[in-house]
Amino acid sequence: MAGGSGLTRVGVVGSGIMGAGIVEVVASAGFEVIVRARTEEGAAAVVAQVASRLQRSVDKGRLEATEADATVSRISHTSHLGELAACELVLETVIEDLEVKRRLVSELDELLDPSAIIATNTSTLPVVELAVATTRPDRVCGLHFFNPATAMPLVEIVTPVTVAESTIALVERFAADCGKESIRVADRAGFVVNALLFPYLNAAIALAERGVANRVDVDRAMRGGCNFPMGPFELLDLIGLDTTLRILETLHRETGDPASLPHPELRRLVAAGHLGRKTGRGFLEYGT
Ligand SMILES: NC(=O)c1ccc[n+]([C@@H]2O[C@H](COP(=O)([O-])OP(=O)(O)OC[C@H]3O[C@@H](n4cnc5c(N)ncnc54)[C@H](O)[C@@H]3O)[C@@H](O)[C@H]2O)c1
Repeated sequence: MAGGSGLTRVGVVGSGIMGAGIVEVVASAGFEVIVRARTEEGAAAVVAQVASRLQRSVDKGRLEATEADATVSRISHTSHLGELAACELVLETVIEDLEVKRRLVSELDELLDPSAIIATNTSTLPVVELAVATTRPDRVCGLHFFNPATAMPLVEIVTPVTVAESTIALVERFAADCGKESIRVADRAGFVVNALLFPYLNAAIALAERGVANRVDVDRAMRGGCNFPMGPFELLDLIGLDTTLRILETLHRETGDPASLPHPELRRLVAAGHLGRKTGRGFLEYGT
């Protein structure tokens, strides 16, 4: 099925938190999706994760079993990038590292049809640097989903100076096909949401470290006092502390704003391998 975008086959590269969520969103919207991870097991695990989340929705009576089966049947997986060759749009969701992403988009550029679009899910990196690593800078943009991708209604569409209006218009239609509202944002570190959110998260770490209140009470304060659905420490652990550190570093490099200088406690937790929910422990601890 193709919606207003007219696309049918979409590739997703990366099998982490965002990759798995985006695969579910795109397959649920009726597109054929192929997910590529570095290992076969990693790629297969994404399909298993999506199947198990959909099964939970079926069990709760929120989704028809036939619809869940149809969604899973639209997802295929691979560890070979070359198998994405027939995709009309590829979304990259690998680690927030410019060199890794640059290598990846350049490899994708070599194998995809010249008309295909490459979109990055980067949180802060300059999209133009990825665009110019390809021979199709007019067909490279950002498509920034939020976490969890299945639940968050917004995507930011990042418009580097090199991108064509036709690319942005098509990606906007694709976002609408996926049931997302979109805003266009300039190619500046953090775009809108993260430019505002991450200095706040960093400030919450500093506040707790100064002993104003403990982490659990800081979370309770922002839930109960601001009606936020989550406190900052719950959110930091959901995002992942390694990803948070990279985002703050890029924001700080680009803006020079001391509010984005990563707090030392964040660096210590990342060094210790306490990365948040994905490792069972971050600022808070989680049962296995
Ligand atoms: N976590 C969030 O809340 C969030 C929200 C929006 C956007 N993002 C962005 O999405 C992207 C992925 O973030 P995530 O949270 O899914 O991270 P994650 O740590 O859950 O997953 C990272 C993925 O990158 C792969 N990877 C790691 N090193 C690699 C390498 N050297 N070469 C190729 N692949 C490699 C991993 O195998 C994994 O599939 C990042 O650009 C991040 O900034 C994250």
